[in-house]
Amino acid sequence: MSEPKKWVKEDPNNRFLFWPTEIMKKKAWVSDESIYKEAEKNPIAFWGKKAKEGLEWFKAWTETYQWDPPYYKWFLNGKINASYNALDRHVKTWRKNKAAIIWEPEPPDEPTRVLTYNDLYREVNKLANVLKSLGVQKGDRIGIYLPMIPEVQIAMLACARIGAIHSVVFSAFSGESLKSRMKDAEAKILVTADGYYRRGKIVDLKANADLGVADTDIKHVIVVKRAGNPIRMTKGRDVWWDQLMAKAPLYCEPEPMDSEDMLFILYTSGTTGKPKGIIHDTGGYLTVALWTAKWDFDLHDDDIFWCTADIGWITGHTYACYGPLLNGATILVYEGALNFPQVDRWWEIVEKFGVTIFYTAPTAIRMLLRWGEEWPEKHNLRSLRLLGTVGEPINQDAWMWYFNHIGGGRCPVIDTWWQTETGATLINALPGIGPFIPTVAGRSFPGTIHDILDETGQPVKIGEGGYLVQKSPFSPGMLRGVYKDPERYAAQYWNTYGDKIYYTSDGAIWWDELGNIRLTGRVDDVMKVAGHRLSTAEVENALTQNSSVAECAVVAAPHEVKGEVPIAFVVLKQGINPSTELESELIQQVIRAIGPTAKPAKIVMTDALPKTRSGKIMRRILKALVKGETVGDTTTLMNPETVEDLKQKVG
Ligand code: WT7
Repeated sequence: MSEPKKWVKEDPNNRFLFWPTEIMKKKAWVSDESIYKEAEKNPIAFWGKKAKEGLEWFKAWTETYQWDPPYYKWFLNGKINASYNALDRHVKTWRKNKAAIIWEPEPPDEPTRVLTYNDLYREVNKLANVLKSLGVQKGDRIGIYLPMIPEVQIAMLACARIGAIHSVVFSAFSGESLKSRMKDAEAKILVTADGYYRRGKIVDLKANADLGVADTDIKHVIVVKRAGNPIRMTKGRDVWWDQLMAKAPLYCEPEPMDSEDMLFILYTSGTTGKPKGIIHDTGGYLTVALWTAKWDFDLHDDDIFWCTADIGWITGHTYACYGPLLNGATILVYEGALNFPQVDRWWEIVEKFGVTIFYTAPTAIRMLLRWGEEWPEKHNLRSLRLLGTVGEPINQDAWMWYFNHIGGGRCPVIDTWWQTETGATLINALPGIGPFIPTVAGRSFPGTIHDILDETGQPVKIGEGGYLVQKSPFSPGMLRGVYKDPERYAAQYWNTYGDKIYYTSDGAIWWDELGNIRLTGRVDDVMKVAGHRLSTAEVENALTQNSSVAECAVVAAPHEVKGEVPIAFVVLKQGINPSTELESELIQQVIRAIGPTAKPAKIVMTDALPKTRSGKIMRRILKALVKGETVGDTTTLMNPETVEDLKQKVG
């Protein structure tokens, strides 16, 4: 077979610019530029049309969009069910026996599991009946603390089927993190597993789950047997998944939900120590999950879509569950680490299953790049036809490496910008339209409106930077609130430029007159550590729990592979001396409180932190120190002498 025509171009500013090939254009769902203009003319009508075309509604909505700042609603009074749209619709067609989930366990000698749409449908129905038999009612919250095994999608869809609200917690988060989320959500039931594999070892998930459910409202813990590790089952509370499922009836009527009813709550880090429960609705979220999955990744029936994100993050929710399943697509789910047993495990999987669409984070690409192209070269990756990235800005080197060594120069790289709050992708190039520009995410998805404003609220010009915002009509996939905390919702997103403009907390630059946007990173105290969203305040809270710590400040330092890493500046209490033992104790404290992803890369023990005369810690100075930038004016400091000392220690 002949290679498709190479489509590399260089623009006059000596930057790379790629356009889709004719083959790509021909296959793509959208390849005509006019889609942007059309949607822009009437975004409300655009989304109304898409919601009707893509989904099956039990009852049509009476009003497409309603805006009462800072709240908005879509598809008002429409009735719909997520699990019905992801499953029932497909089992009525030839897709009944199509693979919905191909699951690859981490241990290479364990067999692959394949669930057809009919298998998934049956298991979801059974679990929905199990949940009902345990007393779960519409509107109840269910915690899900599972690794990447098919039971996680089954559990999410079973909740959706009966109108229960799922709240998935990343399985690498600690028991304490789980507990604070379960308490806030007032969850009734937790679905977890005995353990799972990570780099060849079994992680004792149930032990963490036990910590997490203590002193909460959780009445029952449903335990999936995955790793077979010995665990403690608490009588009357803990029940095995298999035992419950064995007796469950095969069909459960899907609950007709109001379009605006909550589908799920997902906790995410903000600028304070307490994660916020981001609320997503049903009809609006499903509409955008479906169409972004279809158009961004050009998802067709013969594709195998692999989104490597963990289900504990929004990327997993939307592109390793709802988005592709709503499209009747086949998803690949891999349980384990990318470097087990060797650093080519991902490529082995791509080759083994003929993955066609691959979606991952820049941090992973940078890691793979360091290991070298000899690893992907060992494998036939020609099945791939589209690559995606998400989670943080991607540097040009990583983009080019991904394009050349994974995509073989054939596949467009779709850099998708979005947030837990936006529910689905918002800014990216479309594969049949382009252009694909390294380090530039792309244009606003059709039917959505973004702008970049300066400090005073004025739009910036092309080539200039400012703050990224979204304008009404807001994407139907956007958050509907912060669970039990309307003040925080208003303050976080609708305060910077008033209650009519959604503030993203991201810096951005207008790239060109086409409306392409380059994202430059968070402008608040939210870190992206290996693609994981964490707040500096959460790490600070964990550290100050230690009785030796008087005071601390955490800032993000740039890191070649992880993007950012937390650095902790710690002032010890009187009479306590710095030691390596104390350092590891503090690191353990963070792991216990949040999880291993939050582990500080360095703990700097110091006598004092730079402070203003009014006693405020000058984070600006700490940030400059860890970035190796000049510190600037220190005359307003109460203790300028600390800066020299810290400079030495940071090194
Ligand atoms: C933050 C949101 C969106 C799903 C995963 C992350 C950063 C996300 C990009 C991108 C530059 C990006 C932003 C955003 N971000 N995608 N393509 N280019 N930055 O969701 O954990 O809620 O984090 O991730 O800073 O605000 P999240």
